[in-house]
Amino acid sequence: MLDKNVQIFDTTLRDGEQVPGCKLNTEQKLIIAEQLDLLGVDVIEAGFPVSSPGDFKSVEAISKLIKHATVCGLTRSVENDIKVAAEALKYAKKPRIHTGIGTSDSHIKFKFKSNQEEILKRAFEAVKYAKSFVEDVEFYAEDAGRTDNEYLARVCETVIKAGATVLNIPDTTGYCLPHEYGAKIKYLRENVRGIEKAVLSCHCHNDLGLATANSIEGVINGARQIECTINGIGERAGNTALEEVVMILKQHPYLKLDTNIKTEMLYGISHLVSDSMGIYTQPNKAIVGANAFAHSSGIHQDGVIKNRETYEIIDPKDVGVTESSIVLTARSGRAALAYRAKNIGYELTKLQLDEIYSNFLDFADKKKEVDDSDIHQIIESSIVYK
Ligand code: KIV
Ligand code: ZN
Repeated sequence: MLDKNVQIFDTTLRDGEQVPGCKLNTEQKLIIAEQLDLLGVDVIEAGFPVSSPGDFKSVEAISKLIKHATVCGLTRSVENDIKVAAEALKYAKKPRIHTGIGTSDSHIKFKFKSNQEEILKRAFEAVKYAKSFVEDVEFYAEDAGRTDNEYLARVCETVIKAGATVLNIPDTTGYCLPHEYGAKIKYLRENVRGIEKAVLSCHCHNDLGLATANSIEGVINGARQIECTINGIGERAGNTALEEVVMILKQHPYLKLDTNIKTEMLYGISHLVSDSMGIYTQPNKAIVGANAFAHSSGIHQDGVIKNRETYEIIDPKDVGVTESSIVLTARSGRAALAYRAKNIGYELTKLQLDEIYSNFLDFADKKKEVDDSDIHQIIESSIVYK
């Protein structure tokens, strides 16, 4: 029987930091890591220790700092990577080594110039070696999304025998369709001997805009860990967005899947990450974008003013946004104008509203957004109001 809790593995500081043009120093990483710990993530992937002295230092400092979450370091299936990661993680209360190797035909042929049997051997040895340092070892089968399922099952069985506790099934290139990714997880659950000893993990990239959908299909089909980043940042088109998967599971309780995330912190941490990395969040980004709770068309505004459930599926407070906003543009109706006018102290009669509304439209046609001082000016200059 699978647990209803889905572990949230945050890789903002490793896969997320691979965004072109982004570089965080150790100080910034510590601030983000501490907030991630408070947010309630289960695992913080702090970096790739062998990649540079700076990354080693950051992983070591995060290991010392973090109180609750497991701290994880990435490695290739290379002895020295694993030894260095173990060293960087030695102060962590709960250390995890995340090792792995490419398993798709193209990775085996072009990257490793090897063959399937050799890759199985390297995977086994890497996990066994990592186990000599830590109990908790996660294995990634890079490009699992394009790896033949039968071979992938053999890889999983092999690393479970070596002691892997978590099996990461990355859709490294963001190629899978949701039903295919879900079927892959289901296949592994049904065909890998010893699977009950390990947790299956989704690690999806967003090249076709499907990272969130694929991760959700993964957990519906039996995965119990999602690897994700704040704002979905990451290599190329990014990774699965943490705030999206968490809110999908919260807003669909019939799925009977939960996380430990304190969702009221999502908006704040989204800003922290985008400010620290200097990477803008698109305004229409789900959950944390500037427009995620802004209503601007007349029909929607009228509905939301009557009852917010008409056009809002999430209470903005649940993600740390104080309240949704009614944005006044030339598409707004009388209800929205009356509502915003009331907020700044004007109770308008129907007659006043009719006259002011036509002045408002003339004004709004010339300006993208009408703000409170504009409303004030429109009302005060209106003859019917005087
Ligand atoms: O996308 C990927 O395959 C990865 C692995 C290194 C886990 O990030
Ligand atoms: Zn990745």
